[in-house]
Amino acid sequence: MLDGVTVGFDEGSMTAIMGPSGSGKTTLLYCLSGMLRPTAGRVLYGEIDIAAQPQRKLDELRRTAFGFIFQAYNLIDALTAVQNVRLPSMFGARVVSQTDAIEALAQVGLAGFADRYPAELSGGQCQRVAIARALAVRRSVLFADEPTGALDSTARREVLQHLTALPGLGTSVVMVTHDPIVAATASRVLFLYDGRIVDSLQGGDARQIARRLADLEAA
Ligand SMILES: Nc1ncnc2c1ncn2[C@@H]1O[C@H](COP(=O)(O)OP(=O)(O)OP(=O)(O)O)[C@@H](O)[C@H]1O
Ligand SMILES: [Mg+2]
Repeated sequence: MLDGVTVGFDEGSMTAIMGPSGSGKTTLLYCLSGMLRPTAGRVLYGEIDIAAQPQRKLDELRRTAFGFIFQAYNLIDALTAVQNVRLPSMFGARVVSQTDAIEALAQVGLAGFADRYPAELSGGQCQRVAIARALAVRRSVLFADEPTGALDSTARREVLQHLTALPGLGTSVVMVTHDPIVAATASRVLFLYDGRIVDSLQGGDARQIARRLADLEAA
């Protein structure tokens, strides 16, 4: 449950959300992205109150403006990498040509992988396909819940490198992570505890972030 959360996210920013298990990180991400309606309060995307939109309008926003990456299972197994990148355009989002999709894959270091199926890609490569999809359809916000949670350190570094490039390309990032090294790539870290934002840190390094988190867990 969230309780009295008031927070803004600047265009072109990258924010990490941290906190103990059950503190409300996923719930916050779901409320921000219109996947879950808060029982009270407003969620503003520009002038639009997401919490008050009819379902049809919410579906449209999620198709056109928002991208999502989860810990795993972001891709459809029966589609190739390039088909997965083009997938949103089949649901009425911006049309993505085959060429643009291949270009987006190249941007995340996956030139030559267009025709591979998810089962033929590593976990990190699958996450990069999901990032390429957000790039190709020019999402304004990418919401990520533990995007590197299932990756080894090399894959984590590669995925992070491409995630941190997104704000410069016009896609803001809001990501939940348990990993201080991942959080340190964000411009701001929000700390949640029992559904409240209890702390935030700008430009902290992984060590400072880990210390804040440990303080929270100990409290
Ligand atoms: N749909 C729901 N209805 C009611 N309570 C829920 C619902 N989803 C989650 N909760 C509760 O809200 C609290 C926050 O859950 P949430 O999944 O947001 O935590 P989290 O910070 O993402 O945890 P984790 O790190 O384990 O993923 C928990 O106590 C959870 O049991
Ligand atoms: Mg969660």
